[in-house]
Amino acid sequence: MGHHEVPKLNDPSLLISKAYVNGEFVDAASGETFEAHDPSTGKKISTCPEFNKQDTEKAIAAAEEALKSWRKTTGRERATYLRKWYDEMQKNAADIATLITWENGKPLTDAKGETQYAANFFLWFSEEAAHIHGDTVPASIPGNRVYTIRQPVGVCGLITPWNFPAAMITRKIGPALAGGNTVVAKSPGETPFTANALAELSRRAGIPKGVVNFVTALKNTPEVGEALTTDPRIKKVSFTGSTNVGKLLMKQAAGTMKKVSWELGGNAPFIVFDDCADLDAAVAGAIACKFRSSGQTCVCANRIYVQDGIYDKFADKFAEKVKNFKVGYGFDDGVTHGPVIHDRAVGKVEAHVQDAEKKGGKVLTGGKRMTELGDNFFQPTVIRDATMDMQIAQEETFGPIGALFRFKTEKEVVALANDTPVGLAGYFYSSNVNRIYRVAEALEVGMIGVNTGLISDAAAPFGGVKESGFGREGSRYGIEEYTIIKSVTIGGIESELQG
Ligand code: SIN
Repeated sequence: MGHHEVPKLNDPSLLISKAYVNGEFVDAASGETFEAHDPSTGKKISTCPEFNKQDTEKAIAAAEEALKSWRKTTGRERATYLRKWYDEMQKNAADIATLITWENGKPLTDAKGETQYAANFFLWFSEEAAHIHGDTVPASIPGNRVYTIRQPVGVCGLITPWNFPAAMITRKIGPALAGGNTVVAKSPGETPFTANALAELSRRAGIPKGVVNFVTALKNTPEVGEALTTDPRIKKVSFTGSTNVGKLLMKQAAGTMKKVSWELGGNAPFIVFDDCADLDAAVAGAIACKFRSSGQTCVCANRIYVQDGIYDKFADKFAEKVKNFKVGYGFDDGVTHGPVIHDRAVGKVEAHVQDAEKKGGKVLTGGKRMTELGDNFFQPTVIRDATMDMQIAQEETFGPIGALFRFKTEKEVVALANDTPVGLAGYFYSSNVNRIYRVAEALEVGMIGVNTGLISDAAAPFGGVKESGFGREGSRYGIEEYTIIKSVTIGGIESELQG
């Protein structure tokens, strides 16, 4: 597809310029809208309603009303709804992928991968929905019997980012619906159209009105976020995004003591020990981990530590691979990497390169804007001789820079890896069984990849420690964030059989 053609959907009715409240596509009461743009071309895709507090409250009211009957459905019924929504995503996978590439910029192959990853959360939680068990508890007081039931938390406020326009939404809505909750989801201002297509597919899947609501906003995002975190009718908030915004939302949610889960920023270490079985595999793992979505995932490697003896060889091989990337428009054939999301992101990447160079880092490839492609493109970059005083070591870059740090011992590298206030993902390559257990246990992160750079799977618990937040998404644990445990104690049961 050429740069000037407008991407086409098989089903054009999936491009929706509205918000979704109580089973209907609606505008903001003010009539105000915002524009969302293709980050590759800078062209407008369409507009969406600029919701404010009052608009958001209508969505909350709809979710509260729908909760009355939704919470009474059986797990089996909810499983069927989620499975239907999954089927709708499969049927319309090509269009979902097109929308993702269009509004996020990631190459179409990655967008197709995300679409399946996203749908898998509905599949996974359709399977969980029918298996939400309580326990029978041996009481310590004679004559008492204790059991537990798991119940819905209530209306959930969900806030998601633009880097995975589909998967971050399904990862929250899947378990929320499976657990018997209803939701008001705030879609990202940069990428509202994938979310709106998912809303339409929820309607086609027959999910009752008010169970799923999508609110849209760009400049009013803080106001909508405040409504979702302070309204007493909302009982649970889940947010994926930056640590700073997470801290603000947590303060806001404290006022009504909501159940919360936060999936926040990371600064992932990626360690290559000299006993790794296959250096090429380690290079490939580092490439996949670092440059997925042009470095714009919370679990992307941010600091690549390579052991002294293999450092030079690794650096050369790594840079060679990066030189072969094809950067461009996500719809063009053979494109492996797209733009970053907006000019602020380019600015941060550029600042990290300049800071690293000033402090002794050496750029092996890349390092510059690609203005010939558009405003949001930056050359995939490799920097060797990176050191811990550089910004790139201290902050999540969220862009296409692979920074290589040198280390000598296991003890030293684990201390360096843990020397950060955040802890989301960490990776290492080694073939030494003892080391694998030891280092996996020592890294202060919520998720570890050993001899792999890709850990994202609906079956695996996703979440962090330290300032990366808490709560787990996906997996059998994901449902716990969306249910409460109620214990029931029945007293006065006589132990003697009667009669
Ligand atoms: C994220 O960037 O938050 C999600 C990455 C993933 O699920 O793989």
